[in-house]
Amino acid sequence: MYDFDTPAPRAGSGAIKWDMRGDFGNENALPFWVADSDYMSPPEVTDAVRDAATRCVFGYTAPTRSYKNAVAGWIRTRHGWEIDTDWIVPSIGIVSELSNIVRCFTLPGDKVLIQTPVYDPFAGVVKTAGRTLVENRLVRGGDDRYAMDFADLERDLRSGVRLMILCSPHNPVGRVWTRDEVCRVAELCAEHGALLVSDEIHWDILMPGQCHFTAGNAGTSDNVIVLTAPSKTFNIAGLKCSNGIIPNAALRRKLAAWKESRHMEGPNNLGAVACEAAYTHCARWCDEQNEYLSGNAKLVCEAFAQRLPEVRIAPLEGTYLMWLDISRTGLDSRTVCEKLTRAGAILNDGRRYGDDRFVRLNIACPRGQLTTGLSSIIACLSEAMGK
Ligand SMILES: Cc1ncc(COP(=O)(O)O)c(C=O)c1O
Repeated sequence: MYDFDTPAPRAGSGAIKWDMRGDFGNENALPFWVADSDYMSPPEVTDAVRDAATRCVFGYTAPTRSYKNAVAGWIRTRHGWEIDTDWIVPSIGIVSELSNIVRCFTLPGDKVLIQTPVYDPFAGVVKTAGRTLVENRLVRGGDDRYAMDFADLERDLRSGVRLMILCSPHNPVGRVWTRDEVCRVAELCAEHGALLVSDEIHWDILMPGQCHFTAGNAGTSDNVIVLTAPSKTFNIAGLKCSNGIIPNAALRRKLAAWKESRHMEGPNNLGAVACEAAYTHCARWCDEQNEYLSGNAKLVCEAFAQRLPEVRIAPLEGTYLMWLDISRTGLDSRTVCEKLTRAGAILNDGRRYGDDRFVRLNIACPRGQLTTGLSSIIACLSEAMGK
């Protein structure tokens, strides 16, 4: 069994999640914000990076054949998608690659669609490129589970959207989209001439019984780009390595030419080493992490159900990010986050994702840390509700 109970020594290491706590006004608060984890990365990954460091090869490198085989192997065995290794386009991160893709495949003023509430850099990437942001709101059911509004989506796509960014699994509402939902999105994009860019960075982090369906398998792969990375799964975001999977050779060529003309390179060579090791040796670590995270999610749900049922929680199907409805406090999410920080827990303000009735809680941490944080969070919200 791997150890997820021991905290990684992150404070003072430059970790944004820990070392920027002072910016919120409480440098002793426990951090439940930035989407990375607070236990160690898999030992197989650390060993591979250490071995590479002892060989001292730090010059210019390009992803090797064995790297690409490892990426393709993971995608085949974990996600049931047979890819050609030529389709793999390595990069230094999903957000920067999204920005490249938006700028490469659309023109200033073109419409780009996102489904809100959603990971905030999506809107940033679109707006800073001078494209027109189209927001297709997700709808929340009586069971607090979110769904897509396909009628609205179709209307938006028909209005001339050139590119849609799908977040799958979805940060922050925690949905793992079903095969039917993903296929419907892909069909609609194909029908209306929009490029579908599916950000699947969270695809390995699944709660029990959940099965991720990649947009790559939706049957319309000519207009699909899947973006993924080992960074969330294995906690190696700082190593700057991600992968686009682009079945359409013309799209691949266009993106390669666009990046080359702007002198863009990557990924980091130690990131590639870590990625290859993770995808080759860490399937069991990934399964055990999912089990651990599902225990953490259960802890959160039970604590709120018993002590503060007024806070509704979107059912967590995938990702390690929980979406909590704090509207019964009568306060907006910024005010609630300020109170929570003073009480000892830093969460993300839902406003940045597009809904200020919510806060986002990252549960990828040792259970002891979560238990301590939960007590402060529930006590603080109870007080805010006058309980
Ligand atoms: C949906 C989603 N995409 C992308 C990223 C960031 O990816 P990267 O660090 O590779 O830019 C995150 C990080 O939280 C995310 O949740």
